[in-house]
Amino acid sequence: MSTPVLVAVAWPYASGSRHLGHLAGAYLPADVFARHQRRVGNEVLMVSGSDVHGTPITVRADAEGVTPQDIVDRYHGEFLRQWDAVGISWDNYTTTGTEHHARVTQQMFLRQLENGHIDKRTSDQFYDPEAERFLPDRYIEGTCPYCGYGEARGDQCDNCGRTLDATELGDPRSKITGVTPELRATEHFFYRYSDFTERLATWLKAKRGWRPHVLNFALGWTEEDGLHDRAITRDLDWGIEVPVDDLGPGKRIYVWYDAVIGYLSASQEWASLRGDEEQWRHWWENDDARHVYFIGKDNIPFHCLFWPAQLMGAGDLHLPDDVPANQYVTFKGGKASASRGIGLTIEEGLDLFQPDGLRYALAANFPEQADTEISIEEIARRINEELVATWGNLVNRVLAMVHKNHGVQPRSDGRTGADAALLATVDQFLTTSGEQIERVELRAALRTAMDGAQAINAYLNATEPWKLAKVDPDRAGVVLATALDAINAIRIAFSPFLPFSSARLDEVLGEVDGWRSVAVEPGTVIDKPVPLFEKVDVAELLAATGVDGDAGD
Ligand code: MF3
Ligand code: ZN
Repeated sequence: MSTPVLVAVAWPYASGSRHLGHLAGAYLPADVFARHQRRVGNEVLMVSGSDVHGTPITVRADAEGVTPQDIVDRYHGEFLRQWDAVGISWDNYTTTGTEHHARVTQQMFLRQLENGHIDKRTSDQFYDPEAERFLPDRYIEGTCPYCGYGEARGDQCDNCGRTLDATELGDPRSKITGVTPELRATEHFFYRYSDFTERLATWLKAKRGWRPHVLNFALGWTEEDGLHDRAITRDLDWGIEVPVDDLGPGKRIYVWYDAVIGYLSASQEWASLRGDEEQWRHWWENDDARHVYFIGKDNIPFHCLFWPAQLMGAGDLHLPDDVPANQYVTFKGGKASASRGIGLTIEEGLDLFQPDGLRYALAANFPEQADTEISIEEIARRINEELVATWGNLVNRVLAMVHKNHGVQPRSDGRTGADAALLATVDQFLTTSGEQIERVELRAALRTAMDGAQAINAYLNATEPWKLAKVDPDRAGVVLATALDAINAIRIAFSPFLPFSSARLDEVLGEVDGWRSVAVEPGTVIDKPVPLFEKVDVAELLAATGVDGDAGD
């Protein structure tokens, strides 16, 4: 039976170029998972979009002396080009800047207000007396109360990943004028997250198969005094308007309150774009659906606590089923960070490497269990020594021999035990890699595909069809047909990771539907192959780009 699967991917702020760390942390794992889910026949809805509100955007606009919309247009455009170039297979990639999204956000706000989960309070917020304005979120910097990092921002510490309240910061400074801000009373709407501490704890404790670091981090918030109520409006003039006029002008909905609602609004937008307005309910009002959220670990509280609490407060919408958050990709010890300009941007990565090569190297280093260091040399090594040496050369070698000796896929009558054993082995590898992807163990799944390629190489080294061709051409034909059938199985295991070269193999070997091995029809014409991948010349690449070898700052 086919399951409706929502692949929900963190919405990148349209405030600057995203880095390879973001690609490896969220977008690429989501794409691998979605491609596998489609292949096994599930109904996949993969959504995200550019996160266009909040102080990440306005701080950048202020710094450049342009409008927030200018910033958003620039980076949303860049992101769209990037997804295409790196092969991220969205069903809907939109933005939080649409009228539709504003309407859905306001409706949800009103429903929660009606349900008693939102109330109005007066609180003290930092105010810059020189700039004569409040300083929400990233307009404040100071010392992190948890780790002591000196440049923590009002909403979050980039060093320890903690979500902060600006008033907790030590030695606060205005990002606009540098002055020490003063506290002033201001009215805001608060979401009563504390109403949901119990329900969230019960819900989380029933989860099986979640990554321990995710579950423990989220459960930690529900312990001791539980979740705190948080302001969901800001003193800002950029963002979605508050749908009631109690607060007066100059207030907007907080970016994190609206961004997560994007998962729902983008699903609805997708449904209406394909002319079936109600189709989104199949994912959101359906207990049998499966919702998997792909995010970096700094977003865990928002996806494992705040968003579920918002969903609970709005009524009966499907809660996350898994949040396989990744750790960080680091560049020589520092977390890749768009705001601090560390690491290669996705665009720079695509200038240096073929998309499948980049995808392979990043997937081999997905930070699933621990922070993972990456560099240009590491990417090049993975491409040259693994992707090209083991998989690319194997495919090329077998296709070339079949082409030269037979011109077509030979018949394989009279297979030996060794031939059958290879086919059984690759079949097992294919099954195993599929199970690993189901559990979002993507690094392991890629490793398994590579083990399959190695098994085929070992078989060829043992049978030596290049020698057999002279002494026993019939046997050579059976061996090559067996090797090509084995390749046809293992390419399915690679297909979610390597969509570009997979499409080329489809042209050579025919399309395969499903996650299964299919024999190449004897008589299929095999033309002279073009290598699937190019080797990377590291020295040339570094010289040509002038990019630091360590990809750091
Ligand atoms: N824009 C946020 C970030 O880059 C992520 C938002 S995810 C969403 O950290 F769910 F809120 F959209
Ligand atoms: Zn910190």
